[in-house]
Amino acid sequence: MSIHTPPPIKKLTVQDIRAAKNRTEPFLALTAYTAPIAQLADKHADVVLVGDSVGMVLYGMPNTLGVTLEMMMTHGRCVAQFCQRALCVVDMPFGTYQASPAQAFKNSARIMKKTGAGAIKLEGGAEMAHTIRFLVERGIPVLGHIGLRPQQVHVMGGYKVQGKTEDQIEMLKADAKAVEEAGAFAIVVEGTMEHVSREITASVNIPTIGIGASPACDGQILVTEDVLGLVAGAKAKFVKPYANLYQDAEAALQTLEADVKARRFPGPENLYIKTK
Ligand code: KIV
Repeated sequence: MSIHTPPPIKKLTVQDIRAAKNRTEPFLALTAYTAPIAQLADKHADVVLVGDSVGMVLYGMPNTLGVTLEMMMTHGRCVAQFCQRALCVVDMPFGTYQASPAQAFKNSARIMKKTGAGAIKLEGGAEMAHTIRFLVERGIPVLGHIGLRPQQVHVMGGYKVQGKTEDQIEMLKADAKAVEEAGAFAIVVEGTMEHVSREITASVNIPTIGIGASPACDGQILVTEDVLGLVAGAKAKFVKPYANLYQDAEAALQTLEADVKARRFPGPENLYIKTK
């Protein structure tokens, strides 16, 4: 090896993410559905999730229920190849894992084979514990997802903050414990209050990754397009845009349109010149 060869990048594994429970510093997880966002996210996040939020963010669906296995495989394959360091996790879409452990295995094995991702994520608490165990025992690492579960939007009657009563908090803790004991390597906790996240986080030995769930979690996950301000329209309270790329893009296209109409574009620097 020449002295100029950079050292190989160490790819994070589910064991590394599990070990992040004992870190004092929270870690970052980001979503990605496309090559450019995957390349960016891989530089800053320990976990890159190909979330089923792809349906809403890229396809303009009203919720995540219409997302298919084929969509997840297409976006998963694209993103996984750009995850040089981060652990790539692909979401199981609605209706592809809830019927039985066998259905979950068949479809998550397809995702693992087709995408090259390192793990899958599925939504569910105690009721999915048997399925999670079935998958993990057969070689499929699972990231759990409890609290607000977007695939349950119709049952919940909307996207509602979870854990508002003592009973609900106990149920969330029971969900987290069941998911941990079934063998998940970490748990996404969505849409709950700080004291609830703190209790959940303290009650399990695997990392919690919060979204709309306060800094009391071991890590934070966000939709990258939300962070970059790439999505037009109202934002959830828990989203903090660190850029306004939609506005910037709009301004850029307005300038381009004006330049085309005034024949300022293409300019001399954009022309092929006859050399001989
Ligand atoms: O689908 C998704 O993007 C998610 C996360 C934001 C947790 O489930």
